[in-house]
Amino acid sequence: MDPKSQAVSKVTVPVILERKLHGEKITCLTAYDYPTARLVDEAGIDVLLVGDTLAQVVLGYDSTVPVTSDEMLHHLRAVRRGVRRALLVADLPYGSYHLGERDTLRTSLRFIKQGGAEAIKIEGGRKRARLVRRMVNAEIPVIGHIGLTPQSVNRLGGYAVQGRTLESANELFADAQALEDAGVFALVLEAVPRELAAMITRRLRIPTIGIGAGPDCDGQVLVFHDLAGLAFQPPAKFVRPYADLRQTLHDAISKFREDIMEGRYPSDGESYHCPMAILEQFEKEFFGHPRA
Ligand code: KIV
Repeated sequence: MDPKSQAVSKVTVPVILERKLHGEKITCLTAYDYPTARLVDEAGIDVLLVGDTLAQVVLGYDSTVPVTSDEMLHHLRAVRRGVRRALLVADLPYGSYHLGERDTLRTSLRFIKQGGAEAIKIEGGRKRARLVRRMVNAEIPVIGHIGLTPQSVNRLGGYAVQGRTLESANELFADAQALEDAGVFALVLEAVPRELAAMITRRLRIPTIGIGAGPDCDGQVLVFHDLAGLAFQPPAKFVRPYADLRQTLHDAISKFREDIMEGRYPSDGESYHCPMAILEQFEKEFFGHPRA
């Protein structure tokens, strides 16, 4: 994408809604720091999500459960400094819904006012509908997230595809409809059978953004480290690594180490030099005469 055209085409919530009306795809990636935010934004990705996957891919936790809103905010602010065009969305971490709606609103407003987020993503279906209404009434644009909701890992007992039985497919439909009715402007569908995601996408007026939900969603999202081949976990079925940065960086770091050990780094060309006159004077003072 031409960087000049990016500067004038800021992605906003209405732009995302219009994409669905015009049948145009929505692209979304996560980012957690300034350099990844710049890379993602400059490549023309529409929505940049500071996901709670921060916990796993950057902070090294086993799941998304431990990450705190302070940690999220710290990374969100770094990302904000790197984003110009994309819509910046912040994930509410686990624990943000459990102490009451006022607490959720407080964290959301912190992410918007102190972190520069333009929208908030929350996990969960019908049980979040009331909360979503309250957030939307408070001028907080909300993205929903149903299907596999990783914050529920302890209840679900793992990361399994959702909606494979009639009962759970019906539940997903009801969750999707309830969130749309409550006012979310987009809905992430994670680890849902392709066919079901396609039906939900046809049914809803708001766009769906799939991750492991097949190609018929209105948009797609991936975790940056999965796309870049920088994750340390075996990738899920839906991940397409577009680069192997882990190997590339491993090779670069090993080469750096070898070059130091063999005296090849730094070279003379990579060193600073004193002007000759100063050097001669210094050597005279130091050694009593210029060195031969
Ligand atoms: O936290 C995250 O990165 C997410 C995406 C996987 C959608 O929620």
